[in-house]
Amino acid sequence: MIVADDYTHLSQLAADHIGRLVKEDPQMLLCAATGGTPTGAYERLAEGSTELFAQMRILKLDEWCGIPGTQDGSCDHYLSRHLLEPLKVTPDRYFRADGDAKDLQAECARMSEALRAEGPIGLCVLGLGMNGHLGFNEPGDRMVPHWHVVELTDSSLAHPMIQGSGASITLGVTTGMQDILDSRQALLLVSGGHKSEAMKRFLTKRVTPQFPASYLWEHPNLTVICDRDAVPSD
Ligand code: PGA
Repeated sequence: MIVADDYTHLSQLAADHIGRLVKEDPQMLLCAATGGTPTGAYERLAEGSTELFAQMRILKLDEWCGIPGTQDGSCDHYLSRHLLEPLKVTPDRYFRADGDAKDLQAECARMSEALRAEGPIGLCVLGLGMNGHLGFNEPGDRMVPHWHVVELTDSSLAHPMIQGSGASITLGVTTGMQDILDSRQALLLVSGGHKSEAMKRFLTKRVTPQFPASYLWEHPNLTVICDRDAVPSD
């Protein structure tokens, strides 16, 4: 676990980490979270030469259901803007669930198949949900191993990303917990004082489906980069 001075420092460290792994494995499958936390790291990556990313593949971690991928607020839109376009990732190297698909179960089955064909994930970049979710693996009685449809919690539905989207959202689709744990490397990014309660719970290392991020303690290659504000004071 690395404690960065602030968000700028965290973003630089995370970008360096991602860049290092892509150098080692240029065709790496990067499973990419969206949201406020990884944006700075993606921006740093986009500042360099795109040559390094000419073969890298990207898997979208999760998606809201009910917002078209072209619309602001969707994870597709976010990744297009922050990763795919700046790094010139061609559509054949981008693997995405369509959150607007008519048959969401079939869409998840298609994504599980895509992951079987393209996987394993080389690096899974994750943010920490206020309620401990990872992707849209929400707190509950059990974790679902592979791609699945999720009824989103109020906490997830309060995420700033979709406020003002005008969409009526109740569901999401997500990479499953086993898919995440099967990644070669996992990188959890946590920034800001509003995450210190969630960090406190994460740092207890008690693995429970009530706090999905706790499963990362079972990952063999986990790196956590958080900034000082996210570190619990007690
Ligand atoms: P954030 O979201 O990076 O915007 O804090 C993380 C999450 O809710 O998964």
